[in-house]
Amino acid sequence: MRVIVLGADGYLGWPTSMHLSARGHDVVAVDSLVRRRWDTVCGTHSLLPIARMERRVARWKAVTGRTIEWVKLDLRNRADLTELITRYRPDAVVHFAEQRSAPYSMIGAAQAVETQYNNVIGTLNLLFALRESAPTCHLVKLGTMGEYGTPNIDIEEGFIEIEHNGRRDRLPYPKQPGSFYHLSKVHDSHNIMFACRIWGLRSTDLNQGVVYGAQTPETELHPELRTRFDYDDIWGTVLNRYCVQAAIGRPLTVYGRGGQTRGFIEIRDTVRCIELTVENPPQPGEYRVFNQFTEQFSVGELAERVRAARRVHGLETRIEHVPNPRTEAEEHYYNAKHQKLIDLGLQPHYLQDTLIESVIQLVEAHRHRVRPETIDPRVSWRDGARGRLARPKARRPAAAGSAA
Ligand SMILES: NC(=O)c1ccc[n+]([C@@H]2O[C@H](COP(=O)([O-])OP(=O)(O)OC[C@H]3O[C@@H](n4cnc5c(N)ncnc54)[C@H](O)[C@@H]3O)[C@@H](O)[C@H]2O)c1
Repeated sequence: MRVIVLGADGYLGWPTSMHLSARGHDVVAVDSLVRRRWDTVCGTHSLLPIARMERRVARWKAVTGRTIEWVKLDLRNRADLTELITRYRPDAVVHFAEQRSAPYSMIGAAQAVETQYNNVIGTLNLLFALRESAPTCHLVKLGTMGEYGTPNIDIEEGFIEIEHNGRRDRLPYPKQPGSFYHLSKVHDSHNIMFACRIWGLRSTDLNQGVVYGAQTPETELHPELRTRFDYDDIWGTVLNRYCVQAAIGRPLTVYGRGGQTRGFIEIRDTVRCIELTVENPPQPGEYRVFNQFTEQFSVGELAERVRAARRVHGLETRIEHVPNPRTEAEEHYYNAKHQKLIDLGLQPHYLQDTLIESVIQLVEAHRHRVRPETIDPRVSWRDGARGRLARPKARRPAAAGSAA
């Protein structure tokens, strides 16, 4: 298939581009590179050094003999996007290209507007471009499990059967997102569902859980094929952040009481889920939702898992509860369904101590690059960062050694 990957310079977009190319698909990798600019604004960076896109695709060609075409493009530019879709007439578009940090979206008005403009308008532009130039193309859109929030009933995969006043219907599952970023995903979902219903487009909305890990078989082929690894308060996902804290001998910081439970997925399963989704498209006019995660954990449990993995090596790690910068339930019911990707053939990599240890070892090899001052939360859900994110003052890197 010809597949366009939007957001191909990102944590998930780059490994997915390589994975699909390795499976024999014809991949066009697209990104505006805005994420590299957001890093500068936030004083953050990828712990693992990442090559420029030109180097990445050249290295991929040198190592595998396969071509990934690289296009720099901003989804907010509708004319450019329409021209891209017209030029390539893809069978599938995998859309990762959004501002994906909840804390970033909560810094202040400018970042909330930027997030929703970038995400909602980018996706809307894409829907119109597909209607115009590739109406049978399958849109694979990355949503998030955070769209659902934490209801006191089981979370279904996108739709719920409801009986009300003696009548029944199958309706979109209620959404209770927890940040302006998560809200942007809900708005996207509504726009995509509408476009499928009205224009007959086809789409799969992948409500993905929190991703962890840094390595896929393709990223390991060469250092220039690595993907980014975020561990800071703005972009870092929780398990990756704990691994960095463990590696530099800092306490693992659990927000609040730590009972916040979410779905999680390893990066190798993310790329496999995208492959399965692309290769099993929905019917024309169909809008379907898959919950893309493999296990659920509370953030407190995850910290315990990291501590246990360290203990195997005789290393003691402290866990510290810090005030929660987010406004969210810290103890709640959580049971989310995630069967549809398994039915398509996903064989999950469940979280193993060996995986935790391999991430920590990867971090240890790059310990000199860790910026400890970017780990503690700088953005609060109630007060933002007073409209602007002050760049943290650089402090000396933490001392080596992870034992306490
Ligand atoms: N990482 C996770 O744990 C996670 C979990 C659930 C869902 N997701 C979703 O998966 C997608 C990818 O996440 P990621 O972690 O790889 O994020 P990322 O920030 O590493 O990558 C996103 C990429 O999209 C690009 N981009 C953003 N806006 C763009 C625009 N207007 N035009 C062109 N390119 C643009 C950025 O430059 C960046 O390279 C996001 O949509 C995110 O919401 C991620």
